[in-house]
Amino acid sequence: MTTIAVLGAGKIGEALLSGLCSAGRAREDLLFTERHPERAAELTERYGVGHVGLAEAVRRAEVLIVAVKPQDIDAVLAELAEHITERKLVVSLCAGLPTALFERTLPRGTAVVRVMPNTPMLVGEAMAAVSGGAHAAESDLALVEELLASVGKVVRVPEGQQDAVTALSGSGPAYFFYLVEAMIDAGILLGIPRATAAELIVQSAVGAAAMLRDGDGHPVMLREAVTSPAGTTIAGIRELEKHGVRAALIDAIEAARNRSVELGAAHEGD
Ligand SMILES: NC(=O)c1ccc[n+]([C@@H]2O[C@H](COP(=O)([O-])OP(=O)(O)OC[C@H]3O[C@@H](n4cnc5c(N)ncnc54)[C@H](OP(=O)(O)O)[C@@H]3O)[C@@H](O)[C@H]2O)c1
Repeated sequence: MTTIAVLGAGKIGEALLSGLCSAGRAREDLLFTERHPERAAELTERYGVGHVGLAEAVRRAEVLIVAVKPQDIDAVLAELAEHITERKLVVSLCAGLPTALFERTLPRGTAVVRVMPNTPMLVGEAMAAVSGGAHAAESDLALVEELLASVGKVVRVPEGQQDAVTALSGSGPAYFFYLVEAMIDAGILLGIPRATAAELIVQSAVGAAAMLRDGDGHPVMLREAVTSPAGTTIAGIRELEKHGVRAALIDAIEAARNRSVELGAAHEGD
C-alpha cells in the first residue's frame, strides 16, 4: 500500500487524515507531522495515526501532502529539499502556490500536484480542483483524485485556471455564508427570532443545495419553478435585480480571482 504523510496537521490536514481514515485507509499507511507535541498526541489518540518528524515522513512515505500555511512553505520546502533523495509525489494544498515553486526547490523530477480544496472538507463535502506540475504522471493525478474523493468531490483543471477556482470554490463557501447571514438578518427585520430565522434559512440552503446537486434541474429551471406569476418570489427577484446582485456576485468573484493572481505573483521570484 502507498504510505501517505500529511505535513502540517492543522484544520485542513486533520480533515484529510480524518477522511482517509473513514475511507478505510490502513492507519499504518498514514503519518503526519505537527509542531506541537500536545496537538500531535491528541491527533494520534483520535485517529490512531503516527506522528513523525519531517525527515522520517520523507523516508517512509511515497506521497507527501503539504498542508501548512503558505507563509510557512519556505521552511518546509527547504527541509524537503534536504531529505528527498528518490522520486516522491508532493501534493500541495497551499492556496496560491504554483507547482513551479516546488519544482524549483525540490530535486529534479519530483512530481508535484497542486490542489485547491475548500473548508467543507471539514465535513467531508469538499470541492477540490487538482492540477499536475511538469513531472506529474497520469497515475500521480489519479492517486491524488482517489485520496481527495474520501473528503468530497474532485475535478481536474489546467493550472492556469487555479486562480479562478480559488475565487469560485475556494472562496465560494464564504459567499454562501454571507448570503445566509444577510437572509437571517432579513428574518430578524421581519420579527422572526434569530434562532428560528437561522433554522429556516440554513435548512433552505441545505435543501436547495441538495436539489442542485442531486436533482436533474438547472438553477434557472429550479428558480422558475418557485417563481409564480404575480407571486411573492418575483417581487423579491425584482429587488435583487434592481440592486444589481447578479453583477455584484460576478464582480466579487472576478475581484477574488484578481487577488489570487496578485498573491501568486508574490511567489514568482522565490
Ligand atoms: N482552511 C481553508 O479554508 C483552506 C482552503 C483551501 C486551502 N487551504 C490551504 O490549506 C493549508 C492549511 O490551511 P489550514 O487552514 O489547515 O491552516 P492551519 O490550521 O494553520 O494548519 C497548518 C498547520 O501546519 C502546521 N505547521 C506549520 N509549519 C509546520 C512545519 N514546519 N512542520 C509541521 N507542521 C507545521 C501549523 O502549526 P502551527 O499551529 O504551529 O502554525 C498548523 O498546525 C494552507 O496552505 C491553506 O492555503 C486552506
